[in-house]
Amino acid sequence: MNLQLSEEHLMIQKAARDFAQNELKPGVIERDEHQKFPAEQIKMLGELGFMGMMVDPKYGGSGMDTISYLLAIEEISKVDASASVVLSVNNSLVCWGLEHFGSEDQKQKYLVPLAKGEKIGAFCLSEPEAGSDATSQRTTAIDMGDHYLLNGTKNWITNGSTASTYIVMAQTDVSKGSRGINALIIERGMEGFIVGAKENKLGIRGSDTHTLLFNDVKVPKENRIGDDGIGFKFAMKTLAGGRIGIAAQALGIAGGAYELALEYSKVRSAFGKVISQHQAIQFKLADMATEIEAARLLVYKAAWDKDNGHDYGTSGAMAKLYASKVAMEVTVEAVQVHGGYGFVKEYHVERLMRDAKITQIYEGTSEVQKIVIARSVLG
Ligand code: CAA
Repeated sequence: MNLQLSEEHLMIQKAARDFAQNELKPGVIERDEHQKFPAEQIKMLGELGFMGMMVDPKYGGSGMDTISYLLAIEEISKVDASASVVLSVNNSLVCWGLEHFGSEDQKQKYLVPLAKGEKIGAFCLSEPEAGSDATSQRTTAIDMGDHYLLNGTKNWITNGSTASTYIVMAQTDVSKGSRGINALIIERGMEGFIVGAKENKLGIRGSDTHTLLFNDVKVPKENRIGDDGIGFKFAMKTLAGGRIGIAAQALGIAGGAYELALEYSKVRSAFGKVISQHQAIQFKLADMATEIEAARLLVYKAAWDKDNGHDYGTSGAMAKLYASKVAMEVTVEAVQVHGGYGFVKEYHVERLMRDAKITQIYEGTSEVQKIVIARSVLG
């Protein structure tokens, strides 16, 4: 494994860092406060090629590797994790899924505008009673010959009201269990498809999370992704890559909080010297830097596995499990280093602490990552 970033990687990293500082940072506190979606910034990120980073240029993407994608997610997450989740879902759940499992017609019709950032996608697996237990899908897609009749409810859907293209997992044949699930492409505006309530969240408040309702939605057969009954495997394979993206988001949140704490420790004085000269603070900074570096190595290893054709289900789960734990620990410590200032919004670290929590929940909770890892080590 080569730990040296290429010239191209460094360019992507810098472009994402500059974008985060110049375009995302100025309004991030207000967007968090008012749960405002970063619409303009996402449009700009699309124009810069960040919405379909790994997609083949022939389908409108930037044709980059997974490391490039992770570097972008990491830098953007240091400032605005609400924006980075939009990128993460669009890139690794929707575009990747369509590119690797979709038909040529589906790629031309749906992938191209998503990869170009002209449209936004959503990935709809979770339900009110099927979160971690994702095989227990209650949403049904009854085979009516030339179309499916879709009924059910999806919960906590990222990009819920801003997306135009939704990949929805639904049960077609309950007697087949997970092998009876299909993945269907739903378009905004299809009759019977209703975008329900928006969630009022602890963190990533700028992202747009909704309940979705499907009442007798007629979905043409050509909107099914892959063969009949592969929907659950499609979702699991797609999530395996998505989890590396969320691991990079967690790494970025931790890195952002650490950088703020480091900076602050050099300017704040107490007991006659800057607090970075106190061993209590030095030990915190040392722990943060070490944990972030360890998480980074796990995240890059998972990306390297993916880019080199190795299995990345386990390494991705390990990266997400560890990086999300580090994100929680580092952000809590960053608030502590800031003392009272850390508890108020202007200093950014309290937001990063709130944003960190979701990385232990979405795209598979930490407990689900442990199930995946345990199954792998036990064989
Ligand atoms: N690749 C390919 N196939 C896989 C797979 C993978 N990574 N994981 C499982 N499968 C297959 C199994 O081999 C099995 O197939 P067969 O029937 O042919 O043998 C089938 O899928 C069922 O698998 P399991 O028996 O392992 O299923 P399970 O009920 O034990 O569940 C689980 C396993 C890992 C807990 C899974 O349910 C899971 O990952 N749950 C979490 C769901 C999740 O991550 N949700 C996130 C929602 S999306 C989101 O958050 C996006 C967002 O908006 C940010």
